Amino acid sequence: MKPADTAPTTFREFEHRAWQSVVKLYEDYFGALTAQCIEPLLDAVAVKAGDAVLDIATGPGYIAAAAAKRGAKVTGLDFSSAMIAEAYALHPGITFREGDAGNLPFPDASFDVVVIGFGILHFPDPDRALREAFRVLRSGGRFGLSVWTGPDKAAGFGIVMRAVEKHGSTDAKLPPGPPFFRFSNVEECGHAIAAAGFSEVTITENPQTWRFPSAAAFFDGISASTVRTAALLHAQTPANLAKIRAEVERETLLYSRAGGKIELPMPALVARANKTLTEPGAVRAV
Ligand SMILES: C[S@@+](CC[C@H](N)C(=O)[O-])C[C@H]1O[C@@H](n2cnc3c(N)ncnc32)[C@H](O)[C@@H]1O
Repeated sequence: MKPADTAPTTFREFEHRAWQSVVKLYEDYFGALTAQCIEPLLDAVAVKAGDAVLDIATGPGYIAAAAAKRGAKVTGLDFSSAMIAEAYALHPGITFREGDAGNLPFPDASFDVVVIGFGILHFPDPDRALREAFRVLRSGGRFGLSVWTGPDKAAGFGIVMRAVEKHGSTDAKLPPGPPFFRFSNVEECGHAIAAAGFSEVTITENPQTWRFPSAAAFFDGISASTVRTAALLHAQTPANLAKIRAEVERETLLYSRAGGKIELPMPALVARANKTLTEPGAVRAV
């Protein structure tokens, strides 16, 4: 067995280690932000009472809990045992399961609805995860995902990326993984979902705001509660990190509101699609 202090050798291992240790910080910094996308995502896939819903990358179970509130029969899945423990602690009445998005532990056609909230950018093989989501949906089922817009729109990421490019190194020497913003591109996102077999893909933008008491609190938050962005910051030399921090705080202040509070635009894309299967031998009416 590898000692815990050796560097992770695969992207999955890198992500898994991070999610095992970041649960509380994720809730503190991202909980109120990703919560702004829960109802838009559930509305996009029309979750209603009685639906069998799978929430992949459930994290602390926010989306699962909201779907259960609508009367759906929900299962939340995450590859982090720490996240699953937290989801159970917060929502004891819901079923949560440890498992990988790329190898779902469910038979074909088990669910009416499958959703992935801000998970797709963390998977080592997102196309495989989309095919798995397609497999476990019944024919006629609905699929939805949410993902950050690119750094041009999601100010929190844009500010940090620009500061790192200006004052530091963009190479965090991580195990290779898929591009962070691949699914932030509407065409690419739609193409990937359709390539997994889905039809009638629709993508909309959901406006969201990330709130902090100060610019310093934003830097502390993004350095502590993210995975790849945190690794990028931690990979900088102390001198460069100090410059990056100063630049980030300066840029963040442009988003100050009354009382010095920070409000950063962090819109998300909400994609939805159908699993429409033509039965063998069926004749489509024209
Ligand atoms: C950004 S959080 C999203 C949590 C929640 N859905 C939300 O909207 O706030 C991403 C979650 O994906 C999980 N995750 C990452 N890679 C995964 C994988 N390969 N299989 C299952 N879960 C994964 C992480 O453990 C983490 O809980």
